[in-house]
Amino acid sequence: MGRVTLLIVLFALLGLKSAARAPQQPPSILIDSLAGRDSFELYCASCHGSGGRGDGPVARQLRTRPADLTALARRNDGAFPREAVRGFITGSGRAVPAHGTIEMPIWGPLFRAFESDARARERIANLVSHIESIQAPATGPNDPGSRLFRTHCASCHGGAGRGNGPLADQLRHAPPDLTKYTARNGGVFPRERVYRIIDGREVSSHGDREMPVWGDVFTSSGSTSDVKARIDAIVRYLEGIQERAARLKGNTDHAVG
Ligand code: HEC
Ligand code: HEC
Repeated sequence: MGRVTLLIVLFALLGLKSAARAPQQPPSILIDSLAGRDSFELYCASCHGSGGRGDGPVARQLRTRPADLTALARRNDGAFPREAVRGFITGSGRAVPAHGTIEMPIWGPLFRAFESDARARERIANLVSHIESIQAPATGPNDPGSRLFRTHCASCHGGAGRGNGPLADQLRHAPPDLTKYTARNGGVFPRERVYRIIDGREVSSHGDREMPVWGDVFTSSGSTSDVKARIDAIVRYLEGIQERAARLKGNTDHAVG
């Protein structure tokens, strides 16, 4: 793409936040500041949210849910996968998607079209550092979600969620491994879907669900907002124990120089 074409495309997309239909391109043009936080606010927050949790204003309109960028270290055994993240942002380390279009823009060439290579490199390095600075700590044993999981779920799903709890043998269906949602879902944890499964009240039952309907169980012991808070905490806990995303793992293997 020529520089002029790019400019036109970028200006056309200045209204991305409201239009929200053409997510292939960045929401705005370059700013002077190279600070990671400023670049993040301008180029990433529309989709990933200001805090990086994947809940930006444009997120709902996308087919692929923007990743929770605060969970990258947690998903990688506590180590922030710096090179893989950089490769994903610049596009150099990105695997070709198996289906559909990538809704996450490739930022390397876009930045470089408007500023020197050195500035583009610094901008991206600062963005990566900013993302590193917002990593959520691994969930500790006193995290509410972790406690609820031990009390209500571990008997069947196992202490680490892998499906091998002490009651597992007595069930007709094996309790599934709960650590693979992100890997199975293109690197993004399907928060709403997991919430609905656990709540269970809206899921049509085939009559042989062995898993308790937690929405009902928790309702009997608390108010509606308690129910939501508890299930939310469990969902966050599960998000934290997901196996590394297939996507970033692939990037590490290609070792972005
Ligand atoms: C138009 C929406 C959009 C914008 C703007 C956007 N992203 Fe993304 N991003 C996504 C989506 C959607 C994904 C999920 C991955 C996919 O399938 O493409 C993603 C994934 C990622 C990932 C991979 C995380 C993982 O779990 O593997 C990183 C890192 C990332 N984005 C960083 C950024 C940064 C940094 C910016 C700003 C420079 C940015 N994104 C701007 C939509 C966006
Ligand atoms: C009595 C054993 C038991 C307990 C306790 C239990 N589960 Fe389950 N769970 C199962 C079984 C068995 C399945 C497979 C579906 C079925 O047969 O109901 C399942 C399925 C699931 C699924 C869907 C997995 C998938 O993708 O197919 C999720 C999510 C889940 N459980 C989360 C939880 C959470 C969170 C808790 C605690 C609040 C919990 N479970 C407690 C037995 C249990």
